Amino acid sequence: NGTDEENVGKLTGDISGGLTSNESVLRRMKDASQVKNSNVSLPKSSLRKSRRTSSQKIPKDARSPAQAGRSGLQKYGQLANKARSLISIRTALPIWTHQTEIQRHLQEKDILLLVGETGSGKSTQVPQFLVNESWCRPQKVRIKTKGNTENVTVGGCIAITEPRRVAAISLARRVATEMGTPLGSASPASQVGYSVRFDNSTSPNTRIKFLTEGMLLQEMLRDPWLRQYSAVIVDEVHERGVNVDLVAGFVRNMVAGNKEGRGGIPLKVVIMSATADMNRLKDFYEDGFPSNTTKSSDSDPAVNRTYEESDREGDEDGYESPWSGLSSDNEDASAGGQLGEAPGGSTYSAGHVATCFIEGRQYPVVAIYTPEPVRDFVDASLRTIFQIHYGEPMPGDILVFLTGQDDIEALEKLIEEYAAGMGSEVPMHVQQRVFQPSPHPNMRKVILATNIAETSVTVSGVRYVVDCGKAKIKQFRTRLGLDSLLVKPISKSSALQRRGRAGRESTGKCYHLYTESEYSKLEPSSTPEILRCDVTHAVLTMKARGVDDIMSFPFLDSPPRESLEKALLQLFSLGALTESGSISHLGRQMAKLPLTPALARVLLTAAAPETDCLLEVIDIISCLSVENVFINLVNEDKKEEADVARKELLRREGDHLTLLNTVQKYSSENTDRRKWAEQHFVSHRAMQAVMDVRKQLLAQCHHQKLIPPPSELNTPSNTSPERATVILKCFLTAFANNTARLFPDGSYKTVIGNQTVAIHPASGLFGRKLEAIMYHEYVFTNRSYARGVSAVQMDWIEEALAR
Ligand code: CDP
Repeated sequence: NGTDEENVGKLTGDISGGLTSNESVLRRMKDASQVKNSNVSLPKSSLRKSRRTSSQKIPKDARSPAQAGRSGLQKYGQLANKARSLISIRTALPIWTHQTEIQRHLQEKDILLLVGETGSGKSTQVPQFLVNESWCRPQKVRIKTKGNTENVTVGGCIAITEPRRVAAISLARRVATEMGTPLGSASPASQVGYSVRFDNSTSPNTRIKFLTEGMLLQEMLRDPWLRQYSAVIVDEVHERGVNVDLVAGFVRNMVAGNKEGRGGIPLKVVIMSATADMNRLKDFYEDGFPSNTTKSSDSDPAVNRTYEESDREGDEDGYESPWSGLSSDNEDASAGGQLGEAPGGSTYSAGHVATCFIEGRQYPVVAIYTPEPVRDFVDASLRTIFQIHYGEPMPGDILVFLTGQDDIEALEKLIEEYAAGMGSEVPMHVQQRVFQPSPHPNMRKVILATNIAETSVTVSGVRYVVDCGKAKIKQFRTRLGLDSLLVKPISKSSALQRRGRAGRESTGKCYHLYTESEYSKLEPSSTPEILRCDVTHAVLTMKARGVDDIMSFPFLDSPPRESLEKALLQLFSLGALTESGSISHLGRQMAKLPLTPALARVLLTAAAPETDCLLEVIDIISCLSVENVFINLVNEDKKEEADVARKELLRREGDHLTLLNTVQKYSSENTDRRKWAEQHFVSHRAMQAVMDVRKQLLAQCHHQKLIPPPSELNTPSNTSPERATVILKCFLTAFANNTARLFPDGSYKTVIGNQTVAIHPASGLFGRKLEAIMYHEYVFTNRSYARGVSAVQMDWIEEALAR
């Protein structure tokens, strides 16, 4: 046990180890057949077995699934067996011995800060520790609003926020399995669900809901008091994306402010982190409380206490109560633990905010740096992977940190090519398959990931980590007035997190693809996103949630004043704010859409009767929400074939219309969509995601009364050039800043900021000379590229900018 820094031995060696050519890689592959047949045994696991305390029971649902009808009995039996089989794994997690302590803290206080290494069990166990606490039951209360008295149910459900959708979904699946309950919308009896953008999977009985931070913010717009929840758990706060900072600020107000809208029922808050600076967070939350009160829920005079004791019956949804089968007096679940039982020094109880540290379980990891700086990290990763595969005697999978889909796909292809030469199977990049064990002890699974695997997702079986030292980060470019994705060196803290992934289950090795001196120059930690990114969306969310004075919002780190002012201006120009800075009707509509303010504005413009191209715009936006609909071609042989096949889809107006054409053709294909996609070098998986997003956006637009129900819609199947102009003009109402004009020397320069930008090679307009272009994204790799490009006219841009 100990920190990464203490455990990590340092060894500097040549990781390319003379592997200078393809031939040597292939030679080593042949040599490796000996390694393959040798007997390798893992060192005896040193996992300690933790004590069982009286509160560590077999999950109730695993023993008696509440609503198993006759036909469902067998299925519930399987679920219960699976849940039982996981109990020994759960009880061995470092967090397990802190169960009573965590429960006790939240009986006494409304806010808990919990710090524990990745993999200690925070995300999966904490909601389960809390869900049966007595304060976590739904309560019927009477609330007075504007002279009326309303009967409402408050609480009963736990929200747990995640920075990324893949983590929210995979955690929900895991927790459902551990609790022996079906997942999400699969059954009305399901107690664990998730809600991520464009995918909501919950049931009327959901008690634990994993959501992305953005989805919780959306829910706050509909339900400002978060009445369905008894607790909000904010996970991965150290990631410090803009949304988690907003959630952190809003919950501070809710926990420390008056609880009028909740009928006096406190909202319990748990802030969890793998690395956060605990003192800072503690001060931030303590500062939220008025200085002369002890506990706001006890002493807040503003609370209209007309609420009654809960009648402890089920909700009005008609399903059996989630409490059936549970003893009504649940206090004994936590009474087993005695005060002070937790390991010394891990609790802190003065003030309003409780804190708890979970000791990590980390095996030593050897860090290896390159002797020379690496130029091409994809190539260096390839060599390192095969060097590990053949050179390392210990079994164990390899986790490779790259920067994004482009380099992941490029490396995947290269690995496949090399591995094809050795006739073995190669790992796959389908997200969920990374959680399955390697099929054979002599095989290694190679997981190609972005920084998502740093702390957000735990992949078991990993003993080797390859860290390219870079990540794609979003950064606001003042000259351009917009965010762009830049490949940048990671921070020391990220490097340590990446390294730590190799020591989760046994001793490991981490190959950093940079020199030790480069490492020493890395920033200690990454700058919070709110300090370096566009905050337009954040400001719109705050305005819609009733924060009039943005400058007074409790930010963990206040964004620079100019960036807030710029956001206010941008929202004003999008029509979301009035001249006095208050939110407009259009702004409220925009905030409710699960889109960036700019795309929301495009969509609402398209819905207006004078433009009337909403369905087409939804199709295009759905594609823009999914990374790469078209398959990147690494293999030159196929290029010609692909060019011919894609010609059918290309529209001369540019990528927006090409995407629309692709959706129209794909969705009208009624025989075999997979085959159609293959023939057109379109990613079938991406198109399935596009169709999902499209379905959700259609439903959302219907919900906001912009269109009739989706079942009554006739989606247009061919878009005329006249309509194409209308569509592009709709996009310009929000993207006039993302435009560039052609200069006599053949280069494009941005209309705002006069920066040189080139059309990305993946665009259908690559190499074309047009009067002006509008682009969806600005990316900077080795040069500045515009992606998602369409041809526009200067007078359209001027018209849009003049509005
Ligand atoms: O939140 P934290 O990183 O502290 O840990 P966790 O996500 O609760 O993970 C605890 C353990 O649960 C992991 O080590 C895995 O064994 C397991 N787990 C899993 O199998 N599948 C998931 N999607 C998440 C966790």
